[in-house]
Amino acid sequence: MNICVIGAGYVGLTTAAVLSDCGHYVDCVDIDSKRIAVLKKGIVPIFEPGLKEIIDKSIQNNFLTFSTKVKEKIAENPIIFITVGTPSLEDGSPNLSYVKSVVDDIAASITSHKTIIVKSTVPPGTNEEIHNMLLEKNVDPSLFDIVSNPEFLREGTAVKDMLEPDKIVIGIKRPEPLQVMQKIYKQVHAPYIVTSLTGAEMIKYASNAFLATKISFINEIARICDAYGVNVSDVSLGLGTDPRIGPLFLRAGLGYGGSCFPKDLQGLTYSAKKKNIHPELITSVQNVNDTQIDVYFKKLKSAIPDLNGKQITVWGLSFKPDTDDIRYSASIRLIDKLLEEGANIHAYDPIVKLDKPNIICHSNVYESVKQSDVLIIATEWKEFKGIDWLKVKEEMNGNIVLDGRNIIDPRTVKYVGFHYLGVGQL
Ligand code: NAD
Ligand code: UGA
Repeated sequence: MNICVIGAGYVGLTTAAVLSDCGHYVDCVDIDSKRIAVLKKGIVPIFEPGLKEIIDKSIQNNFLTFSTKVKEKIAENPIIFITVGTPSLEDGSPNLSYVKSVVDDIAASITSHKTIIVKSTVPPGTNEEIHNMLLEKNVDPSLFDIVSNPEFLREGTAVKDMLEPDKIVIGIKRPEPLQVMQKIYKQVHAPYIVTSLTGAEMIKYASNAFLATKISFINEIARICDAYGVNVSDVSLGLGTDPRIGPLFLRAGLGYGGSCFPKDLQGLTYSAKKKNIHPELITSVQNVNDTQIDVYFKKLKSAIPDLNGKQITVWGLSFKPDTDDIRYSASIRLIDKLLEEGANIHAYDPIVKLDKPNIICHSNVYESVKQSDVLIIATEWKEFKGIDWLKVKEEMNGNIVLDGRNIIDPRTVKYVGFHYLGVGQL
């Protein structure tokens, strides 16, 4: 099939790569000319395990091209995926201007039938709005179908998640485009959930809200565990064995980050309020997340009250391991707080090198702790699990370690002389 993917970000590039790997001819377009120029040189501008390999293969086999000619490629392809960003605006509502600009481009270039598949996460009612926008722009209704096909991939495992999803959600206005979707996803084996356009949008928002709820729940439990001297990891284990609860997304830490949970919970709250519904649980989930860093910052300050002039090393800058994405990263928010207190920040991340004043980024994990008073683990990169703690202790000036993701064994670090602080962990 001939497909145009609009947007070459985390979702767009993964969609283009996976669909071309499945044997479709894919034109991936973006208005960011720098990004496209880099992609044309065979460089993948994001760090996503396994992505470069399939992009290289698809380019070589002539199944994948990159271009900035958005309108031209829309005109050439019958299937259009919209994967542009929907970041939060000041008031918490998602910025739909990128999606709307694509709709304008489609209206301007449509001469034959298009199946327009919206993968970007959008608030309930947006796909209906897109449909109406095209009609208002005098596009003949027989020339297009809108499909809401939200994406559930996670950064760090994007390729695998798209090839082996646990479901494919399809929102449609009439049955015909379902067959087109089944043809596109022929090689992807997963149950279909077919609903209305708005139903699909709600499934996406509700999924992210529920996952975020699990995280804030366990983070709140971690705070109570701290007060009662209980290990939250024991509680997660006990909770997770109940099949009604499940073991995933019960890892306590410094809170969730990334470009999606914070934005989508804000978006859902905004959508609810628009209809005079005050989402109390979802608001609390966000409050717990927003204050999680403060709670563990306070715990750190109980061990070292004056941070002014202290050297602090932060391990992990991305919002989660296996990605270079630092959008709404708990690590960056924590660093900003430490800088406000006058601390000198040294950082190490296996992939991210921050270009930020007052932060010294190292390319070696042991170098990064030299002379430091405090070490904070903010992101659970695999590398941090195999650390020689004796060596770290010898390099450091001080002996405080705050494990913001509960990945190290407290007994090991205590044994070599560290004062250990965890998140609901003794
Ligand atoms: P991103 O910021 O990485 O990429 C968006 C791309 O769209 C950018 O390269 C930008 O230049 C391009 N773009 C913007 N306007 C354009 C236009 N008019 N024409 C062509 N290109 C244009 O965003 P992302 O992280 O890939 O997220 C995209 C959408 O997918 C969002 O709605 C997000 O909520 C959703 N989503 C993201 C993830 C994820 O893990 N990142 C997972 C599921 C869903
Ligand atoms: C999340 C969802 O998991 C995806 O299904 C969804 O498609 C995506 O958002 C989206 O809509 O963009 P992602 O943000 O890439 O994916 O990463 P997650 O693995 O969900 O982690 C999000 C945040 O939660 C990270 O900061 C992570 O550290 C934190 N987290 C996760 C915890 O603190 N505890 C956990 O147990 C799990």
